[in-house]
Amino acid sequence: MLFSFFFTLLLSASVSLGAPYLQKRSAVTLRRGCGVHISDEKVASAERRFSSNRLPASNPNATAIIDVHFHIVAANETLEGGWVPDSQLKAQIDVLNKDYTGTGLSWNHVNTTRILSKEWFEGVAPETPESSAMKQVLRTGNASTLNIYTAGFVTNAGAAGLLGYATFPVDYKSASWDDGVVVRYTTLPGGTAPKFNLGRTLTHEVGHWLGLYHTFQGGCQGSGDSVDDTAPEESPANGCPIDRKTCPGDQKDPIHNFMDYTDDSCMIGFTSGQATRMKAQIRTFRGVVIFKNHQRIMTSALQALSSVGAE
Ligand SMILES: *[C@@H]1O[C@H](CO)[C@@H](O)[C@H](O)[C@H]1NC(C)=O
Ligand SMILES: *[C@@H]1O[C@H](CO)[C@@H](O)[C@H](O)[C@H]1NC(C)=O
Ligand SMILES: *[C@@H]1O[C@H](CO)[C@@H](O)[C@H](O)[C@H]1NC(C)=O
Ligand SMILES: *[C@@H]1O[C@H](CO)[C@@H](O)[C@H](O)[C@H]1NC(C)=O
Ligand SMILES: [Zn+2]
Repeated sequence: MLFSFFFTLLLSASVSLGAPYLQKRSAVTLRRGCGVHISDEKVASAERRFSSNRLPASNPNATAIIDVHFHIVAANETLEGGWVPDSQLKAQIDVLNKDYTGTGLSWNHVNTTRILSKEWFEGVAPETPESSAMKQVLRTGNASTLNIYTAGFVTNAGAAGLLGYATFPVDYKSASWDDGVVVRYTTLPGGTAPKFNLGRTLTHEVGHWLGLYHTFQGGCQGSGDSVDDTAPEESPANGCPIDRKTCPGDQKDPIHNFMDYTDDSCMIGFTSGQATRMKAQIRTFRGVVIFKNHQRIMTSALQALSSVGAE
């Protein structure tokens, strides 16, 4: 069931330094840019914490239903201003459910909040004050609630082609206010981002929110993305370069994987190793237990999370 609420938060007009008028609304050619960049050191420390606290992924055939809250941040009530219609949100949830078919994870849209803030619509990007302020005001739910924010990425990430960014399960405990996924509103299904308007930016960012790294994490060496059945990859693939091969060995690059950087139409799926990792990650760090009767069963989040040792 979908409860839709319209909530308009009128923020006091921010002090304008004229910057918005210097922004040329030029047609930026987007390459997939994801704001999730993690050092090998951070991966190593997160993986140590995961392996020492890891809970298994429960029944491999079972499905967890995860609640989704949308926060639509818009400059005004036009589509160009980021005021995405409910039909596009529904289409996006449908894409998410389709793309996660077979992983044991499904998505239940429970609410939509609409916020008018030109400052946030334009300024939100990884680690900006606008992003922190937005999440501190809007984030809702607990460790198992997926908060999705849409914004314009105008000021800080427009030219760089940023499409989205996300937090990881391992960081929930230390920064729960920050938890969630932010995407450029034009990436929703039917949006205006060329090659990135089938909704797969959200599929990719939610993969991070469930504990997946990029397929090219760590390059050709070592444990790469910490999943055994994804082929290693030296660097992000753009477009849809069939037969690309950047690492030694027999395997071609995983260009059809949702966790690479290819065009939406090039992306096909997750591997079963990624599905297992996602379920183990959210059981360990988000307290989501998956039962075969398809019910969403939450362990006490506090109990689950307090058993997750710090480094
Ligand atoms: C999962 O499903 C497969 C195929 O239907 C079946 O063979 C297997 O026994 C199931 N595993 C569990 C743990 O239920
Ligand atoms: C709405 O906001 C967008 C993005 O800032 C802007 O381009 C457009 O002119 C605005 N439209 C109205 C009617 O204010
Ligand atoms: C839905 O969002 C509105 C606006 O933010 C809020 O007032 C309401 O409590 C929310 N409802 C649920 C079920 O979360
Ligand atoms: C987390 O939120 C879900 C959905 O509102 C709720 O069913 C669950 O009981 C909550 N968990 C805790 C520990 O509060
Ligand atoms: Zn990414």
